[in-house]
Amino acid sequence: MKNKAVLEQRSLFQSSEEPERSASEGRKPEPLGLFDGIDGSESKKEVLTGPYEDKVLPAGASCEIYPREPGPENGWEGIWDLGELRERVIQCTRCGLRKGARGVVFGEGNPHARVMFVGEGPGATEDETGRPFVGRAGQLLDLMLKSSGFDRKDVFIANIVKCRPPDNRLPLPPEVEACLPHLMAQIRIIKPRIIVLLGALSSQTLVDPSLRVTRDRGKWFHKNGIDYLVTYHPAAVLRDEAHKKRPMWEDFQSLRKRLDELLRSKDVE
Ligand code: URA
Repeated sequence: MKNKAVLEQRSLFQSSEEPERSASEGRKPEPLGLFDGIDGSESKKEVLTGPYEDKVLPAGASCEIYPREPGPENGWEGIWDLGELRERVIQCTRCGLRKGARGVVFGEGNPHARVMFVGEGPGATEDETGRPFVGRAGQLLDLMLKSSGFDRKDVFIANIVKCRPPDNRLPLPPEVEACLPHLMAQIRIIKPRIIVLLGALSSQTLVDPSLRVTRDRGKWFHKNGIDYLVTYHPAAVLRDEAHKKRPMWEDFQSLRKRLDELLRSKDVE
């Protein structure tokens, strides 16, 4: 029985190098350091993106374009390979963000991930490195992942927009619209079973524009064969650790539980 659980856990993460143990075995309820605060003296100066927990996107911002699958009109329909998609995104000039950014932050992780995380858009550190969530918000995300038994390399991490908005502003509706086919193509290729929505922009864009993170965090939504979990953006948590860190951690425990249930019910391979 135990071996079966171990096998299920290993098949969940195709490239896992984790020691053999079941999904819930040996996990500490609260990981070392998670409630100590994120330090990083240098990176403390970093301006955090994602403070938009309660803002409502302007009318027509996003959800109207959600059902629009990348289709023939924008030439994404033939792409089933993340590497090829990345090349296409690097060439993208569909909005003005590319001009102000150093480069494209495509997203990273396991191309067969069962769980995908969607943030807002790259910040300064992400723009410099070309990798999503590597600044202070990313450090917190990594701790949250560990605390729920995930490793960053087992999941896929992406953003609504792939280029850094200037001055860490919220991406504008036309920028979201222009970039959304990239994310939709990533979702189509990766086929995650669960998407974790980090903050308001991804929640309102991918599920429902009326969602409010402060009210709706911790809730699950089901759409087109995918379970969506709304939670805080890690940058918002860093701004208000006293009130938001534990709820976010609880959301990650709920994520772990949901995935374990899906694995047990054989609803994911
Ligand atoms: N904030 C985001 O929304 N995404 C990142 O990649 C980094 C910070």
